[in-house]
Amino acid sequence: MKSLIVYHSETGNTKRVAEYIHEKTDSDILELKPEKKYSKIGMYTSGIKRALMQQGDEIGITNIDLAAYDTIVIGTPVWGGHPTPVVNAGLDIIKDGEDKKAVAFATYRGSEGETLNILRKKLEDAGMDVVGTYGFSEKETEDSGKIDEMIKAAEL
Ligand SMILES: Cc1cc2nc3c(=O)[nH]c(=O)nc-3n(C[C@H](O)[C@H](O)[C@H](O)COP(=O)(O)O)c2cc1C
Repeated sequence: MKSLIVYHSETGNTKRVAEYIHEKTDSDILELKPEKKYSKIGMYTSGIKRALMQQGDEIGITNIDLAAYDTIVIGTPVWGGHPTPVVNAGLDIIKDGEDKKAVAFATYRGSEGETLNILRKKLEDAGMDVVGTYGFSEKETEDSGKIDEMIKAAEL
């Protein structure tokens, strides 16, 4: 049961969770990055605006192929209560997702807002079977216990 962990992270929290899952499970890992790097201010201006409009950024790849995997684990920071534009772009280019298992997680400061609902819907619309969605506060990203619980519950 091999998973592909796909994530975006600007300040390291989502990366920490993704890398921990990768260490503990039979998985490959793919970090998505914007072609045009965000400045600190840019994240809070155009980044949030694009997140709210559910737009995708240019990420320099055109296809995330799940043919070799049973499961996709997708991780995003919360921007304005939404997935980031980088993750939106990743969701749009998933190939061979039909009937695969999907798990989504988000890291946030105060509240995940609509992020996990949006991820669930997009994954389901692409034909995937979403077995769980998980939110981690910034502090919880440093708590391997909560990540272990997710790994167990989602059978990763
Ligand atoms: C542009 C921007 C928007 C954010 N919006 C929210 C938000 O709406 N709600 C929230 O709880 N945290 C928000 N945060 C905090 C991040 O979601 C949180 O720090 C997250 O763990 C960052 O993940 P990363 O370190 O992987 O980039 C925001 C951070 C940034 C940079």
